[in-house]
Amino acid sequence: MADPTLLILPGDGIGPEVMEQVVRIIDWFGEKRDLKFDVKIDLVGGAAYDAHGTPLTDETMDRAMKADAVLLGAVGGPAYDDLDFSVKPERGLLRLRKEMDLFSNLRPAQCFDALADFSSLKKDIVAGLDIMIVRELTSGVYFGEPRGIQDDNEGGRIGVNTQRYTTNEIRRVARSAFELARRRNNKVCSMEKANVMESGILWREEVTWVHENEYPDVELSHMYADNGAMQLVRAPKQFDVIVTDNLFGDILSDCAAMLTGSLGMLPSASLGAPGENGRPNAMYEPVHGSAPDITGQGKANPIACVLSFAMALRYSFDQGDEATRLEKAVEKVLENGARTPDLMGLDGGTPITTVQMGDAILGALNASL
Ligand code: IPM
Ligand code: MG
Repeated sequence: MADPTLLILPGDGIGPEVMEQVVRIIDWFGEKRDLKFDVKIDLVGGAAYDAHGTPLTDETMDRAMKADAVLLGAVGGPAYDDLDFSVKPERGLLRLRKEMDLFSNLRPAQCFDALADFSSLKKDIVAGLDIMIVRELTSGVYFGEPRGIQDDNEGGRIGVNTQRYTTNEIRRVARSAFELARRRNNKVCSMEKANVMESGILWREEVTWVHENEYPDVELSHMYADNGAMQLVRAPKQFDVIVTDNLFGDILSDCAAMLTGSLGMLPSASLGAPGENGRPNAMYEPVHGSAPDITGQGKANPIACVLSFAMALRYSFDQGDEATRLEKAVEKVLENGARTPDLMGLDGGTPITTVQMGDAILGALNASL
């Protein structure tokens, strides 16, 4: 059988640096675990704009549709701030999500024991934290029409975006949250603003419908998203799976990520419906952005990107044991005190570089054999 295909899109800023470490790890799995991938590397975001005048070419889009999984670094940077909205780096990422129909975005926030001291919250509030945010990724205000900026004909302007959700869009992301909950602690908390938004009322009703008709065994609660943000910093361990819309999910997942100490640690998976071969369209990317302030200095933490590849092993390639091997290797290097600059602070010491963190993870992988 042909090797599964992986399309790698390093993108902008620290994307290429962190992805370089992931490529070393992919090679390790090929050599040592006979898990070989057919890897192709391509451009996205500002890098694609510089080369082709668009943040994502049709050819790259086509390759992404055909790949068994896509691994993306990060997009964006100050060099592209003044570009027309339609060709901004972020448009490349949003096109991938939309055209691949990656409606279910899994953003785990897990606190590694070795890092509990790095959280801005007290250690006992975050130690052992393990929550999963399921963010709807292909609809809502990110894509709703009408949208745009227009003249109000009185000398001013009007900016318009539309929050829009259909029954089907809500039900399918709710199902993926309930499925995940069944394999975890069996609890889902749905977040919206049903107190002020009709789309929030529909969200609550449809999530409840899916619960009653298909997943009555899972515990379901509802929360207004503002209260959810407050509860996330007050007592995050009350949650297991959180399901929410595209915009609230964007905000709440940054908040949840930071509970764990550093944005440089958090991976994500964006999944579509399973295709004919049982495999969903899938893209994996770190939650952090392109971090232009530290680009090219060897300071970037590659762990979020490495853990995104671990999620690919688990969710696209049915290699749960190998995913766990990689996650344990990361845990090990953190226990041993390996720290990129984002993880410095409380326990002092000398930070290591992006490449050295890659070396350390490879070392721990070798030790795992
Ligand atoms: C994210 C990012 C993106 C988003 C940006 C880069 C378009 O913040 O993945 O969370 O808003 O979805
Ligand atoms: Mg975000």
